[in-house]
Amino acid sequence: MSEQDQSHVDRAAVQTAGGSCVGATIVGSGVAIPQTVLTNADLEKIIDTSDDWIRKRTGITQRRVAKRELGETTASLGTKALQAALDDAGMVPTDLDQLVVATITPDMPTPSAACQIASDIGAGNIGAFDLGAACSGFVFALNTVDALIRSGVAKNVGVVGADIITRHIDYSNRGRGTSILFGDAAGAFIVKGSDDPSRGVLARSMHTDGGRWPDLFIPRVDEDFPSDFDHEANAVELDCLHMNGRAVFKFAVSTFGDLIQETLDKVGLRPEDVDHYVCHQSNKRILDAARDRFGLPEEKVRVNIDRYGNTVAASVCLCFNELKTEGRIEPGQLVMFLGFGAGLTWGSSLWRL
Ligand code: COA
Repeated sequence: MSEQDQSHVDRAAVQTAGGSCVGATIVGSGVAIPQTVLTNADLEKIIDTSDDWIRKRTGITQRRVAKRELGETTASLGTKALQAALDDAGMVPTDLDQLVVATITPDMPTPSAACQIASDIGAGNIGAFDLGAACSGFVFALNTVDALIRSGVAKNVGVVGADIITRHIDYSNRGRGTSILFGDAAGAFIVKGSDDPSRGVLARSMHTDGGRWPDLFIPRVDEDFPSDFDHEANAVELDCLHMNGRAVFKFAVSTFGDLIQETLDKVGLRPEDVDHYVCHQSNKRILDAARDRFGLPEEKVRVNIDRYGNTVAASVCLCFNELKTEGRIEPGQLVMFLGFGAGLTWGSSLWRL
């Protein structure tokens, strides 16, 4: 049997032999950021907006935009982020036995971004699939991966959050409610099985309210619009993101705080017991509202929306990676990952590192 065949057999054995790990640890993280910067000043030149308005309403000063001509695709950014995470973990692609990619913008409907990334990185015939939960995607993926590890399906898992949402943004005045907010990026974790049951997910929540999909959606054809959609008040380009900004803002402010409380209650913790709140970056005012509600100091709630905007499934990983690079992540810490977005979806994943 060739070395490669043997490696497939060994990794397949992980998926069938039981011997589950009782805990999970995040052993590596990495990101991939597109080269092109789109500043508020750039947007001022193409739409009716101002740097001052964008900063005050959202906290954003710039975002990144992926360019196909630079070879920046969902798969290429995801692969780069995953490689950086593997390097951080001191592992190689063939060490992985599972790959989960949170994305709503795979380069093609099929193959999945996960299949492309697994192949491009040279991970072999591992289990690889996409998970679509928009801006909650990475948090849902973390909960899924912890469960895969604890149930014995996998031991060394790559988790990627990658989106090129700017492909679905209307950069005319019609789309000025969304073009100011969104940017592209990818991030990745390596999660490894542990024999320490106190490490990994301590509490999780995953929610959806599918009835509210018309608040955030990308119509492909005219029939996709809800029957009561007000086309006069909301001119929407097909294949571009439509967002009811005010409704989503209200939803996010209340849901975000409730989600933190619900997650803490599951394990009897107080807000101050958590070392880091690593949140989806949708609007600085939404993050500030949650911080105020629980009286949390600024250093506990990471904000990097000013530099990247809302990067959909990548945002949570981008924040964690910054904390790690700054040396602020340590074993034993409590980290609450939080996401919410289209669907509508919202979820949390509380980890003991
Ligand atoms: N530049 C300047 N003015 C703008 C603008 C822009 N880019 N976009 C909208 N406006 C105008 C509106 O036309 C409106 O003008 P009017 O008062 O004359 O009618 C005014 O600014 C207020 O618009 P509104 O939509 O109420 O602003 P807002 O305070 O709700 O801020 C968002 C808009 C999009 C920043 C805000 O609603 C938001 O962040 N929502 C949540 C979005 C989100 O988190 N989405 C992702 C979820 S994962």
